[in-house]
Amino acid sequence: MSSQRLQGKVAWISGATSGIGEAAARLFAQEGAAVAVIGRRVELANKIVEDIEKNNGQAIAIACDVSDETQVRDSIVKTVERFGGLHIIVNNAGMVDLRPLHEVTNEQWDRVMGVNLKSVFYSLKHGLAALRNNQRSYIVNVGSISSFVGQASTPVYTTSKHAMLGLTRSIALDYAVEGIRCNCLCPGITDTPMLREHLNETVDPDATLANRLRRVAMGVPLTPMDVAHSIVYFSCEDSVGVTGTSLVIDCGYLTAAEWEHSGHTRFMEPA
Ligand SMILES: NC(=O)c1ccc[n+]([C@@H]2O[C@H](COP(=O)([O-])OP(=O)(O)OC[C@H]3O[C@@H](n4cnc5c(N)ncnc54)[C@H](O)[C@@H]3O)[C@@H](O)[C@H]2O)c1
Repeated sequence: MSSQRLQGKVAWISGATSGIGEAAARLFAQEGAAVAVIGRRVELANKIVEDIEKNNGQAIAIACDVSDETQVRDSIVKTVERFGGLHIIVNNAGMVDLRPLHEVTNEQWDRVMGVNLKSVFYSLKHGLAALRNNQRSYIVNVGSISSFVGQASTPVYTTSKHAMLGLTRSIALDYAVEGIRCNCLCPGITDTPMLREHLNETVDPDATLANRLRRVAMGVPLTPMDVAHSIVYFSCEDSVGVTGTSLVIDCGYLTAAEWEHSGHTRFMEPA
């Protein structure tokens, strides 16, 4: 049973065709929002919209590469035309490029920064006018534990996710007088296609994951839906008074600098 916390709201969610963004699109619709499912893979977006409509929700699929300003602008225009306004922007689309800095080309640097960071500038450059029309509006930027610490072989990703925090704070200040709150949600290890792609590059993906999870206090990865719940929190009055901040959702990963559990936690068993 949903609480309809987003009833009457319109949300634009980028990277919504898989993983965390898809979970957010489905949960937002359950909570009563009309959702613009933004992604490059329109056939996946159409399927998500079909599911949402079957459950009496409202959604529109819009093909969009978030690193292309014209496509982002058009996707916002289409969302507002279709649903009559815009209250929530979730900047979730992201990509990782694994290589040490000396191997990164100019094109690779620009690609990752374009998808992860400049895309936020574009969505807000073209979306803020609609957000400013409302009494209350919400911006949720998806950062990472890489917003706080370095991780091996991800110099551009880590830079983009650190920058997300500064951008979040700056936006929060400039638009608070207009009823807009802006926060950054920072997930840890989440079981999505992005994680699987990364694991599949290793010799034994399951062993690699189990090994990484030894450093996570709860010993388990997040599900995309776990993260989606926190995105909803930042997108409604449940988080009233919270702006310019970040929320780490990481099963305890960043809690200690050096730490390892014995190989088993109760979070690995059914509740
Ligand atoms: N999975 C994790 O462990 C993890 C941890 C921390 C942060 N994150 C962040 O969560 C967000 C969602 O990632 P995910 O884990 O759900 O992975 P994912 O690969 O399932 O989702 C990323 C989405 O972004 C889309 N995308 C990539 N480039 C795009 C572009 N140019 N235009 C439009 N869409 C584009 C992808 O198609 C995909 O749908 C990302 O910002 C990622 O950095 C993920």
